[in-house]
Amino acid sequence: MAGFKTLDDIGAVGGKRVLVRVDLNVPVADGKVTDATRIERIAPTIAELSKKGAKVILLAHFGRPKDGPSAEFSLEPIARATAEVLGRPVGFAADCVGDKAAEAVAAMKDGDVLLLENTRFHKAEEKNEPAFTEKLAANGDIYVNDAFSAAHRAHASTEGLARHLPAYAGRTMQAELDALEKGLGNPVRPVVAIVGGAKVSTKIDLLMNLVKKVDALVIGGGMANTFLAARGTDVGKSLCEHDLAGTAKQIMIEAAEAGCAIILPADGVVAKEFKAGASSETVAISDVPADGMILDVGAKTVQSVNDWIDRAATLVWNGPLGAFEIEPFDRATVAAAKHAAARTKARKLVSVAGGGDTVAALNHAGVADDFTYVSTAGGAFLEWMEGKPLPGVEVLKR
Ligand code: 3PG
Ligand code: MG
Repeated sequence: MAGFKTLDDIGAVGGKRVLVRVDLNVPVADGKVTDATRIERIAPTIAELSKKGAKVILLAHFGRPKDGPSAEFSLEPIARATAEVLGRPVGFAADCVGDKAAEAVAAMKDGDVLLLENTRFHKAEEKNEPAFTEKLAANGDIYVNDAFSAAHRAHASTEGLARHLPAYAGRTMQAELDALEKGLGNPVRPVVAIVGGAKVSTKIDLLMNLVKKVDALVIGGGMANTFLAARGTDVGKSLCEHDLAGTAKQIMIEAAEAGCAIILPADGVVAKEFKAGASSETVAISDVPADGMILDVGAKTVQSVNDWIDRAATLVWNGPLGAFEIEPFDRATVAAAKHAAARTKARKLVSVAGGGDTVAALNHAGVADDFTYVSTAGGAFLEWMEGKPLPGVEVLKR
């Protein structure tokens, strides 16, 4: 891949200590990993390095600990979960630097896999302090970054290490960067973006960047209401950031100047309460009752979204079209996701999706595996969609 060294360039790693930055920031409930996708994604890099005889030393963060080590943010249970997913033993060291790490690394045999404790137990990690980075680097000969989803952080383990050791992109990082290049970097046109989610306020930069890059932008979810209201449509009691009317108008002006079509809901599924199974009706978007809430886009809108998907060669998707987490307000998201998946399977569409809710929505629709690429990144995917350079990626470029 242009600009990056990958495992194809790494040479002989037998007996070498390879520090692999991975993202093990997985959802946990009652001590159990509830979604192991991120662990599954790092398996290829680990297997490849281990098979070549490297000592594979995993670096990761977990949560956002504020005051040093704690059981709450320990990676020890995640080491067990990782061993289960990988189907091989994964050692654990109770610190990522210092004697505990050094001893555990010294005891490794070629091909072994070891996870070091949460890097964020040291404040210097997030400050990207060179002295701390040197301590991390002391345990490795080579650095591999396989954590795209943490690449928006300029931390010691995501950015600093690439300056201290020979640095390579892991297989997941490589696949992610490849997919993103196909999505927005150098896409086949026309490119359609679907952006949903609750609020415009969290996605202003993203929308501003997208209107300059894509041919059509579908806006769904709660954020569509802010655009509708800015245009003069009465959205009743719907979630709406009225104070952002000016921003929404500016985005529509920039889109018009760039020749990007904006597709807003033509109809909505309206209910009086935000509740699973709430009684609802589909109305034209001009007919939302004063006491109604738009919780999903209607069938007419889905048809127009699907028509755009048919016209598109590339689709970039972030955020659901409606309140997909409560039925029946998942219908539009599921229908459009299934349509995009079918077009992708028919080789008519390159489809790239990402962002926390998006993965959950595609899994709910049962089509995540049928998209060209589904990123497990949340914040990093958003920053990429905003057109911002990601420190952990930039530092890998030569
Ligand atoms: C994520 O879960 O999005 C990444 O692991 C980054 O975590 P952070 O937002 O705490 O930096
Ligand atoms: Mg996050």
